Amino acid sequence: MGKNILLIDKLNKTKELSKEEFISLFETFNDEDIEYARSLACKIRDEWYGKNIFLRGLIEISNFCKNDCLYCGIRRSNSNAERYRLSKENILECCAKGYSLGYRTFVLQGGEDLYYTDDILCDIISSIKEHYPDVAVTLSIGEKTYQQYKKYFEAGADRYLLRHETANESHYYKLHPNSMSFKNRIECLYNLKKIGYQVGTGFMVESPFQTPKTLAEDFIFIKELQPDMVGIGPYIVHHSTPFANEQSGTARTTLFLLALLRIMIPNVLLPATTSLGTIDSNGQINGFLSGANVMMPNLSPAKVRKKYLLYDNKLCSGNEAAEFKVSLVKNLKEYGFRVLDSRGDVAKYPFVDRLPK
Ligand code: 5AD
Repeated sequence: MGKNILLIDKLNKTKELSKEEFISLFETFNDEDIEYARSLACKIRDEWYGKNIFLRGLIEISNFCKNDCLYCGIRRSNSNAERYRLSKENILECCAKGYSLGYRTFVLQGGEDLYYTDDILCDIISSIKEHYPDVAVTLSIGEKTYQQYKKYFEAGADRYLLRHETANESHYYKLHPNSMSFKNRIECLYNLKKIGYQVGTGFMVESPFQTPKTLAEDFIFIKELQPDMVGIGPYIVHHSTPFANEQSGTARTTLFLLALLRIMIPNVLLPATTSLGTIDSNGQINGFLSGANVMMPNLSPAKVRKKYLLYDNKLCSGNEAAEFKVSLVKNLKEYGFRVLDSRGDVAKYPFVDRLPK
């Protein structure tokens, strides 16, 4: 058996690899290794979640951002971005639409927009929970203080998504301006866990300056953090950023890394991301065929969707739009998957043990 197959088996057995082993795997994986990891990942996903796919309704609340991340289309310095933000009423309308379509998780995602004070955010969160007590509210609005995260939690937020972006400090500063802090970002993730959020982290695949070594550090960091969700998708060029001339990442590497994440953390929530669907027209299905079990269709008002452009050609109409749920369900069914209308919390026990006896 090949060396990489043995490493994948070792990851499956021990749930960890040394940094050197990860590096060697990332330097040398071939198509056979990818297929081996993907089929193992599907088996593990099936053990923990069956063929069930969870949906999250993604509401992109604002594309104003005080940060200037070098890869991101809504960075502060991009004067070509047409800015918008949603009011509480807009957001509640999205929830009403989503709820009637069967969505039981709403993700409020946005740039770091200082318009939303803690009071405004807490009011929005508690209003959603008041109207829809059976939904989970997920926030994805960047770095805040411990006290702020605590306030949102007390207002009813259940989950928080904050990708670490890279676990290698010098890589972090190649992707972000010095005004941002690697240490703070990592601290935010531990604060969120401490408060009691279900936490999601993640990174872009093949972002500029990513290497087998930085990727190995990502895997080791993720293993240590033990997040409930890990969102990864290919880095995709945005033409009005300093990285306009860099290369986009590939579906191939993303599918391999998705599978390895599933193998390393069997019960993790793993989304087939919009960026994966953007780089490859069958990308999200291929994600599910690599162990993913979550999808986040877009519930934002149609007129702002084209403005939340983190990268070029971002999908915004089609199966990834929340209102196309019927065709999405049908499409997934053809591949043997079932869409569940539930909050979709992280599984604490294998799927078979949760079936009624
Ligand atoms: N390509 C792919 N993903 C991106 N993100 C931001 N910009 C890009 C891009 N150009 C991702 C970041 C961020 C998430 C919301 O979107 O990882 O955390």
